[in-house]
Amino acid sequence: LNTGKSSPVRVEVGLGTRSYPVLIGRGLLAQSGALLEGLKAGPQCAVIADETVAGLYWDRVETGLRGGGFRPELFSFPAGEASKSLAMAGELCERLIGAGLDRSAFVVALGGGVTGDLAGFVAAIYQRGVPVVQMPTSVVAQVDSAVGGKTGVNAARGKNLIGAFHQPSVVLADVETLATLPRREFNEGIAEVIKHGVIRDRDLLLNLVRLVEEDLVTLITRNVEIKAAVVAADERETSGERALLNFGHTIGHAVEKAAGYGRFLHGEAVSIGMAGACVLSRRKAGLSELDQGAIFELLRHFELPVRLPRDLDHAALMAALQRDKKFARGEVRFVLTPGLGQAFLSREVTLEEIEDALTELRA
Ligand SMILES: NC(=O)c1ccc[n+]([C@@H]2O[C@H](COP(=O)([O-])OP(=O)(O)OC[C@H]3O[C@@H](n4cnc5c(N)ncnc54)[C@H](O)[C@@H]3O)[C@@H](O)[C@H]2O)c1
Ligand SMILES: [Zn+2]
Repeated sequence: LNTGKSSPVRVEVGLGTRSYPVLIGRGLLAQSGALLEGLKAGPQCAVIADETVAGLYWDRVETGLRGGGFRPELFSFPAGEASKSLAMAGELCERLIGAGLDRSAFVVALGGGVTGDLAGFVAAIYQRGVPVVQMPTSVVAQVDSAVGGKTGVNAARGKNLIGAFHQPSVVLADVETLATLPRREFNEGIAEVIKHGVIRDRDLLLNLVRLVEEDLVTLITRNVEIKAAVVAADERETSGERALLNFGHTIGHAVEKAAGYGRFLHGEAVSIGMAGACVLSRRKAGLSELDQGAIFELLRHFELPVRLPRDLDHAALMAALQRDKKFARGEVRFVLTPGLGQAFLSREVTLEEIEDALTELRA
């Protein structure tokens, strides 16, 4: 087991003048001040964290940042998706103003994806924009949300409908924080890891169980490399490259909606969605039974669902699928996989075919 505090691994997100490094390693929070040495902001900084994560890691981050000459102040908020609101973003801005943070200050987003999105959005709008340093503490945040610059909050009628692109200045992914993540949340994040493996990295899938048990630094690094490459190729989701990250998400989003938000974690719904996408890929993309089996086995290993629950209303599920904006325009671009590590966008998947696949998942 790698427990040494060796220097972090560095992955560059190549976005021209907006390029930034993602540092992955152990003990990074405690060294955060030194790691942020070259940052052209501060010394004042607002560390935004939910109460759970603040309780666990604020001390470490405060000491770390002070060690580098920064002057951090904590702004915490109640944990949970409900805090990802315009009201909470506004409240945080008012509190930052009240604390006298000016335009030279920067924001630290310490926590899971909710914090990354909310604090990133606060940084995007505070005084017309201040830098943000992402310090992701969940698997979802380390492999997905902290990299890419999508920030925002939920609207009453839908998730992530209010937001801004605001790339971080640095991302510090300290894998030691994953030790306190509840098991269900850990596994939920692994669903997105499996997604990355299916679309881009066969080897990641073949080594996944071992990496989770023995080498989280390599695990997170490989995923950050995949996300960084996709983001660098298609920063604002215009060329279609970034859309490959939606593997499992068309059905997954519908499952989340039809089951009622809260029953399945996002990653669990995506797991069912990936199972559905595999069934479709068998029929439409030549995915072999062996490869499908490997994907299902991994999902099950991490206690992720691959079947639709009996009581999930079929009509509600189909209605949720049809509300998907891509279906509404009659231009579904469904992500299919012909084999481990490969994916492409298909316009040839019909709603009827998806319905058939869903029926198979109920069997
Ligand atoms: N911006 C993007 O590109 C992007 C991508 C994927 C997901 N997201 C967003 O991310 C959010 C989901 O992320 P999430 O699952 O990390 O949610 P989250 O931030 O709510 O974290 C999940 C739970 O785990 C707790 N937690 C986090 N780190 C912990 C740790 N190290 N130890 C103990 N507990 C810890 C949190 O307090 C919370 O209760 C959603 O709002 C989603 O929309 C954004
Ligand atoms: Zn997702």
